Parts: sequence; C-alpha cells; structure tokens
Amino acid sequence: MKRRPLIAGNWKMHKTIAETLAYIEAFKPLVAGVEDRDIMLAPPFTALDAAQRALEGSRISLGAQNCHWEEEGAFTGEISARMLADIGVTYVILGHSERRHIFGETDEMIRQKVAAVLRHELVPILCIGETLEEREAGKTFSVLERQLKEGLKGLSAGDLKDLVIAYEPVWAIGTGKTASPEQAEEAHAFCRRLLAEMFGADFAEKIRILYGGSVKPENIVGLMARPDIDGALVGGASLKPDVFARIVCFGRME
Ligand code: PGA
Repeated sequence: MKRRPLIAGNWKMHKTIAETLAYIEAFKPLVAGVEDRDIMLAPPFTALDAAQRALEGSRISLGAQNCHWEEEGAFTGEISARMLADIGVTYVILGHSERRHIFGETDEMIRQKVAAVLRHELVPILCIGETLEEREAGKTFSVLERQLKEGLKGLSAGDLKDLVIAYEPVWAIGTGKTASPEQAEEAHAFCRRLLAEMFGADFAEKIRILYGGSVKPENIVGLMARPDIDGALVGGASLKPDVFARIVCFGRME
C-alpha cells in the first residue's frame, strides 16, 4: 500500500499577517487541482488565525510550529495545544531541530508535547534527525532510535494512528546540502523497521515519514521515488508560493 504523500511547509519565523494572506491568495490557485496528496502550511502563531480563514474551503491544511504541553497556566510566552485546536489547526510540528538545539528541548519535553497534541486530536509531526557530528561518529541510527523511543514513550498504536514523522538530518537544514535519496531512504527504512518493532508491522506501514532538509523543486522527485519517503517538510523553499507549489506538484508539472 502506498501512503498518501504529505508536502508540508514550515515557514519558521517568517511573514506578517499581510504577507501570509498575499501568499495564500497566490498559492491556492497554483495547487487547486491537486487531489492525490496532502498539503500543509505552518505560518508563525501570529498569522494562524488569519491563515485559517483564508484557507477555508481549500484542501490546504494548517499547521503550527510548536506548542506547550500544559493546557494553560503560568508559562509566559507559550501557546497550548488547546489554543491551537481552537484556531482550527490540523498538524503541529514538534521537536524540530531548531527547538532542540537553539531552545534546549529535550526528548522528554517533546514526548509531553506529543501527548498534549493528541489529547486535542491534532496530528503531531515529530521531527528527528542527527547532527553532522553524530553522523560522522557513526551514531545516526542510535540517535534516531533514542529520539523515536523517547518521543513516543507510553503512547499506543491507537493513540498514534495519524502520527507523522519527519526525518531531518540537522546538517541538511538550511544549508543547501540535501541528504542523497539513498541516505534519506536508509534512515527512513530504519525508522519504519523500528516503528514496526515498537507498534507492529501494520502500524508502521501506515505511518508517513517525511524527509526535511534543503528540499527544492529540483530534488523532490528523486526523494519521492524512494519507497519509504512519504513526503517532505520544507523550510526555505516553502516561503515563495510558486516555488512551494512546484514542490507540491512534483511529478505533475515537470
Ligand atoms: P530547509 O528547512 O528546507 O530550509 O532546509 C527544513 C526544516 O527545517 O524543516
């Protein structure tokens, strides 16, 4: 069974409300005929509400880039999964390498965030990936195993049925260095085998594993041709509607 592709744009700390609305207006017609894959845009928190209204009636889903694990409370500057559900968000990106490395998020914090997102029936996109140092030390698989096992600890296959994993080698994010399709496939296949051990083969077969790290219109086709690569989490190349539309429409227009 081939999994339905998901092409997700992570805007990071880019775009005001006006810029978000202009993007969506330009982007919607470019992907209007696309029905055989899922599309997600993750604007910054401040533009989520406006984006949700602008996306209404389209097939483009809304994602957030992070959340806190508590429902509410004295956590200055944080946003809860409950608040994201209230806006109409579908996906939440969790454990992105920038959150792990710049903001010190641990596997335990990320596990609690995954659980919080599931409580509100949102779809977690759990990001995992090794640094260059870890890859060069031969630790890629042990890092992926730790991040997956710790990030999903205590959760069941039933809880996680819509889970999305994003394999993003840290050395390929924003650097222009993409993992080769072979390197990416090797990591994706490893993750799927591990998910099968943890939750059963049927579960693992259904879970989408996205690749992220310098995805562009020029390399998406080669990545998507691999059996265990089910989509992409796109940063820089998702910021321009025409460029992102070319990635979303891989295999259709070019
Ligand atoms: P990039 O970012 O496409 O700019 O490398 C990917 C990501 O961080 O999700």
